[in-house]
Amino acid sequence: MGSDLAPGEVAEPKHAARTYVVTHLPGDGVGPEVTDVARACLDVAAGRHGFGIDWRSCDLGAKRYLATGEVLPDAVLAELRTSDAVLLGAVGSPQVPPGVLERGLLLRLRFELDLYVNLRPSKLRPGITGPALTTSAGRPEAPELDFVIVRENTEGLYAGAGGTVHKGTEFETATEESLNTWAGVRRCVRYAAQLAKTRSGRLTLVHKTNVLTHAGDLWARIAAEVAAEEGVELSYAHVDAACLWMVDDPARFDVIVTDNLFGDIISDLGAALSGGLGYAPSGNLNPDRTGPSIFEPVHGSAPDIAGRGLANPAGAVLSASLMLSHLGEPAAAADLDDAVSAVLAAGAPATTGEWEKGLLAALANGGS
Ligand code: IPM
Ligand code: MN
Repeated sequence: MGSDLAPGEVAEPKHAARTYVVTHLPGDGVGPEVTDVARACLDVAAGRHGFGIDWRSCDLGAKRYLATGEVLPDAVLAELRTSDAVLLGAVGSPQVPPGVLERGLLLRLRFELDLYVNLRPSKLRPGITGPALTTSAGRPEAPELDFVIVRENTEGLYAGAGGTVHKGTEFETATEESLNTWAGVRRCVRYAAQLAKTRSGRLTLVHKTNVLTHAGDLWARIAAEVAAEEGVELSYAHVDAACLWMVDDPARFDVIVTDNLFGDIISDLGAALSGGLGYAPSGNLNPDRTGPSIFEPVHGSAPDIAGRGLANPAGAVLSASLMLSHLGEPAAAADLDDAVSAVLAAGAPATTGEWEKGLLAALANGGS
């Protein structure tokens, strides 16, 4: 299934000794519960498709920070670099101040490993009910919703440029600067255009070029150039209008490319429209493969339901599917994606355990 390959990826001939080193970083809250299910599914899929996974483990996250003060020791980062991929659950806890793990761990990993694409697919599968079913257009049926957001992942407002002056006075001034480099925007748009070629050939740039005229102009020029070079059809939507259309007419989108913060925001909307955060996967990709990519469900650590067997592992399993595509195992990736759809077709389970049972049964029955 060539269409499951990431852009630029070539299917490798199958041979029995294929083994991938994958670091399991379960993290906090529901992270361990959902990634344990994903891991079990990955092992089954690997067995069926003749490759192996050499699991390593890593205990970064709130627990380690609260116990030791460590966020991302250099030695751990060096170890992570030797993996083929990382499966991340979620990190975070209400006991850790905002920003410590977000900037110190998640964003540092994105920057250090040059994970410049954040791939966020949204697909409304049969069996999912949700807000997408009742739109202002009064649509009686589930809309066709199957798009991928390619979010730039190392620049924009996330780059960390800015600061505070005159702190504690009435003139205290806080700035956050959005960094957009020609090379950074171009490589992200290139990835999105190549992905579009493997799908419908349609690419939409989402930005706010009417107000953010400096960054918007750079993004728009690059998108036009790259779309022409890659031979894809380019359209444009302002980010506010894109939100409206994602609800009212999601079929107009196939591959969306956008900057870091817009991508963060609209991908949560995409998740809400396709079943909720429990179903939302992500891949933090280094498309140039100069280091491992990181795959994680978008839902976060959800401390309110942690340890109660209620977490939905679909987002983690779909992230594992993205991981297999990236590793060049499209058939195994499709099996995991199909297993989630098969479980849903029989009615969404209420517990993590029922999900696991259903997924493993689907993998045993189906598969290519
Ligand atoms: C996400 C999260 C992160 C982000 C946070 C936790 C740093 O919201 O992966 O979408 O903003 O990118
Ligand atoms: Mn987010």
